[in-house]
Amino acid sequence: MESDEKPRIINLPRIYDPRGNLTFVQDGDSLLPFEVHRVYWTYDVPAGEKRGGHSHYQGRELLVATSGSFNVNVFNGSEWQTFTLNRPYMALYIPPMYWRTLDNFASGSVCMVLTNVKYTEDDYVRELDDFLKLTAK
Ligand code: TYD
Repeated sequence: MESDEKPRIINLPRIYDPRGNLTFVQDGDSLLPFEVHRVYWTYDVPAGEKRGGHSHYQGRELLVATSGSFNVNVFNGSEWQTFTLNRPYMALYIPPMYWRTLDNFASGSVCMVLTNVKYTEDDYVRELDDFLKLTAK
C-alpha cells in the first residue's frame, strides 16, 4: 500500500512587493498535486508539543508554515525524513500513506494544510502498529 509518490518541497509563487510579499495557490495550477477540497490550520501550539502522529489512506496534503517554523517528520514504514518548514512560500507535499509527526514549533507558528479530501475519520490511520502492517513489504 505504499505510495509511489515521495514527499517533496514545492515552492509556491512569490509576488515581491516593498509593501510586503504575497503568495497564492489557485485551482488548476499545475504545481498543485491535487484538487483542493479542504483547508485547515493549527496554531497556538504550546512549546514542546507535537501534532500529527497519523497517516491518511487517500488524503494528500500540502503543509505550509504561514508563520513561524516547525519540523515535519515523515515515515514510509522503513525510513524517516525530516523537513523544516520556515517560509510562507514553501509547501511540503505529503502523499497518501506516509506517517507524519510535527514538532519543534517556534512560538506563534501557524501550520496551514491544503488537502484533497473533506474531513472523515475513515481516512485516518491513527495507530503506528496498523500503519506498519499496512506498509509491510
Ligand atoms: P488531528 O487530525 O488529530 O490533528 P493533528 O493531526 O493536527 O494533530 O485532528 C484533531 C481533531 O480535530 C480531531 O478530533 C479531528 C478534528 N478535525 C476536524 O474536525 N476537521 C478537520 O479538518 C481536521 C484536520 C481535524
